[in-house]
Amino acid sequence: MLSTSLYVLAGLATWGSDIGTIAQSIITDDTVFYGQSPPVYPSPNGTGLGDWADSYEKARALVAQLTLEEKGHSVTFFTSWNRELAHKRAVGMAGEFRAKGVHIALGPVVGPLGRIASSGRNWEGFSNDPYLCGALAADTIKGIQSHFIANEQETNRNPEGNVTAVSSNIDDKTMHELYLWPFQDAVKAGTVNIMCSYNRINNSYGCANSKTQNGLLKTELGFQGFVVSDWWAQHSGVTTALAGLDMTMPFASPYWSSNLTQAVKNGSVPETRLDDMATRIIATWYKLGQDEGFPEIGKGMPYDLSQPHQRVIAKSPKNKDVLLQGAVESHVLLKNTNNALPLKSPKLLSLFGYSAKSFDTYTPGGGGWNGGSQALAPSDLIRNGDDILHTQIAANGTLISGGGSGANMPAYVSSPAAALSQRAYEDDTSLWWDFHSGNPQVDQSSDACIVVGNAFASEGFDRPGLHDDFTDALINNVASQCHNTIVVFHNAGVRLVDQFIDHPNVTALIFAHLPGQDSGRALTSILYGDVNPSGKLPYSVPRNESDYGPLQNATLPDGIYELFPQSDFTEGIYIDYRAFDAKNITPRYEFGFGLSYTTFNYSDLQISKDENADTSEYPSKPIVEGGQEDLWDVVAKVSATVANSGEVEGAEVAQLYVGIPNGPVKQLRGFSKPVLAPGESAVVDFELTRRDLSTWDVVAQKWLLQKGDYGIFVGSSSRTLPLTGTLSI
Ligand SMILES: *[C@@H]1O[C@H](CO)[C@@H](O)[C@H](O)[C@H]1NC(C)=O
Ligand SMILES: *[C@@H]1O[C@H](CO)[C@@H](O)[C@H](O)[C@H]1NC(C)=O
Ligand SMILES: *[C@@H]1O[C@H](CO)[C@@H](O)[C@H](O)[C@H]1NC(C)=O
Ligand SMILES: *[C@@H]1O[C@H](CO)[C@@H](O)[C@H](O)[C@H]1NC(C)=O
Ligand SMILES: *[C@@H]1O[C@H](CO)[C@@H](O)[C@H](O)[C@H]1NC(C)=O
Ligand SMILES: *[C@@H]1O[C@H](CO)[C@@H](O)[C@H](O)[C@H]1NC(C)=O
Ligand SMILES: *[C@@H]1O[C@H](CO)[C@@H](O)[C@H](O)[C@H]1NC(C)=O
Ligand SMILES: *[C@@H]1O[C@H](CO)[C@@H](O)[C@H](O)[C@H]1NC(C)=O
Ligand SMILES: *[C@@H]1O[C@H](CO)[C@@H](O)[C@H](O)[C@H]1NC(C)=O
Ligand SMILES: *[C@@H]1O[C@H](CO)[C@@H](O)[C@H](O)[C@H]1NC(C)=O
Repeated sequence: MLSTSLYVLAGLATWGSDIGTIAQSIITDDTVFYGQSPPVYPSPNGTGLGDWADSYEKARALVAQLTLEEKGHSVTFFTSWNRELAHKRAVGMAGEFRAKGVHIALGPVVGPLGRIASSGRNWEGFSNDPYLCGALAADTIKGIQSHFIANEQETNRNPEGNVTAVSSNIDDKTMHELYLWPFQDAVKAGTVNIMCSYNRINNSYGCANSKTQNGLLKTELGFQGFVVSDWWAQHSGVTTALAGLDMTMPFASPYWSSNLTQAVKNGSVPETRLDDMATRIIATWYKLGQDEGFPEIGKGMPYDLSQPHQRVIAKSPKNKDVLLQGAVESHVLLKNTNNALPLKSPKLLSLFGYSAKSFDTYTPGGGGWNGGSQALAPSDLIRNGDDILHTQIAANGTLISGGGSGANMPAYVSSPAAALSQRAYEDDTSLWWDFHSGNPQVDQSSDACIVVGNAFASEGFDRPGLHDDFTDALINNVASQCHNTIVVFHNAGVRLVDQFIDHPNVTALIFAHLPGQDSGRALTSILYGDVNPSGKLPYSVPRNESDYGPLQNATLPDGIYELFPQSDFTEGIYIDYRAFDAKNITPRYEFGFGLSYTTFNYSDLQISKDENADTSEYPSKPIVEGGQEDLWDVVAKVSATVANSGEVEGAEVAQLYVGIPNGPVKQLRGFSKPVLAPGESAVVDFELTRRDLSTWDVVAQKWLLQKGDYGIFVGSSSRTLPLTGTLSI
């Protein structure tokens, strides 16, 4: 009884009510005041749903032959490798990873979603809209590992000294409608493994949280694959096993290894739980066909990353064209006045900014963890305190990727400087450059001045800010001397632009994001109009940090929570455009915005409810991978005509937003990207499923399809929606 009332009080405290009467001093025992995540036990067995049946049958047969010790080993990574055992437990992804004998590819990422704009890991994912994130993840390789769930900041992501990892305190509705949504799509798409995250959820560690793992993932979403820990994210043995963790990473885990077999022997962990772990892992191995041969482990991987001369540079992937196309489409044209772009045979082109220049692939820091950018601070300007890694910009060369374990080191990198000098050679254009000065001298006869800056982010820390004074000053200094200043950012997330964007000489702005190896080639083809930009922002760009309110940066340990940092997601589902719409804040560039060299005209909105669709309040069908099967029943169809009303060919991302009763005024629920010749038009079709139109009912613990009128909006961005209508359910 005592613990129940303390639990209730703690609930109030962490949900933002007056805590003064509860505790004045630092909380030192989280077993009393914390831990609102409800217990969900036992951990559900994988049952072999859907197309897992055959793999489960084989896996069960194999597990039946294993000794207790072998089963224990199959769920723990350890340093002395046994090829056969490794194969028995390994899973893998296709392509490059497979060629190198890497059995598990860590990606794509759908957590963090991007609640906090400055979060260091946002760049690894797709968008801070759950629909977009989920749709793109489902279309990507059907393996997903990261980072279940609510890993929305890097600050305090791990316990340190007497301070625990941050707890993401999320209510049930927000969990379902925002953070779980893309994971649901991933499970529906057949993902084979999910990685539990460093942070805590409702004060229970990600890999020890029975509500999220046993409850949400393995029961509600019917997940049949296995849960693997993020590196060193396991902090207990028996409790993680019971809470649904299936594999621990990396190396030998002191919590598991022989201690897991001992825990089975002494009855703390049922042997059936260990069987289920092994079955889930081995079934995955069968499902991916990895019993049919696999390359040697670690082939083509550097032996010692600290020894540059020992590096093996990965060969270029076979899908070069896909990478180039990806680079082109990551460029979003945000401003283009006076027809600044495309460039028209310039006589003199001037190029400025540290992110234009090539870097030396062979020096330490020239890739890998630092994102192919040598992202170490060249000067005090970009330092944050004394920690040299906490940079805002990567000043030693062009930025092609963010930093951390998601960074890559391609064999070839096309920098803007290299690609533009090649183009200048072909066109007989004179090229002037200065990649170092913050106040370069500009030849006023320049036809155009291109300034290339960046905004760095990495796993391990949150971005110190959303803009930096050095680059803002550089842009203004160039603009004061050059009537046609074109600004390009390699940005690992939102980059504020209001410090220079209204300068009359800043004629164009491109967010190139993190374009990968073809960065320079992609940029050059866009600048010269060889291709027409068609990228759209997967987030909003506000005018100022303060537009984010309390979500400007990550929570730090504070006051009585010093030892137990708490991050209360009190904004609910109102992040990014949902929040800006609700608070009537006009962003500089809205979610879904992006210009083209042509124009598009939207017409002929059609909305049709499927008369045969079951529109009863709740879904009723059994759970398949992803959740109740009828959540994906199509309830209504929407179509519109998009015409290319300009002079050049172009692609347009037509977007569908829905206003669900009692929810945000609009939420993305569909997109389609036709390529259109001048004068050509196409009909874009969208299907709205039961889930697309539902809200999470916290009492019924089901998705609720409300009766009422749903706003339907189609257009080119979240704020340019020329077609509007109503769907009545
Ligand atoms: C976290 O706590 C909130 C508030 O009690 C609750 O709505 C939600 O379901 C909990 N979620 C998890 C994963 O424990
Ligand atoms: C898992 O399956 C085993 C039989 O293999 C059974 O004994 C056990 O009760 C099941 N566990 C759950 C949670 O259903
Ligand atoms: C936490 O650890 C720090 C450094 O070891 C120590 O100075 C501080 O007193 C500790 N705080 C508490 C409340 O234990
Ligand atoms: C088992 O746990 C004990 C106590 O935590 C630890 O000292 C030991 O190293 C663990 N065993 C293994 C093999 O990791
Ligand atoms: C069982 O073994 C595990 C692992 O060594 C240990 O953590 C746990 O305390 C033991 N439980 C009992 C009841 O002995
Ligand atoms: C980055 O550039 C500075 C000089 O601008 C140099 O001192 C530093 O060593 C460079 N860092 C790397 C990793 O190359
Ligand atoms: C714009 O650039 C021209 C040089 O081309 C310069 O003379 C002018 O002062 C600049 N305008 C501003 C507002 O800085
Ligand atoms: C912009 O945001 C910063 C940081 O929150 C704040 O200090 C400043 O007052 C804001 N400026 C304006 C013009 O709102
Ligand atoms: C975080 O945001 C607050 C405003 O909400 C600001 O005062 C503070 O300086 C910011 N901290 C960091 C590290 O940027
Ligand atoms: C755009 O479409 C509308 C029909 O919805 C039509 O009236 C208008 O003329 C079109 N505009 C252009 C520029 O094609």
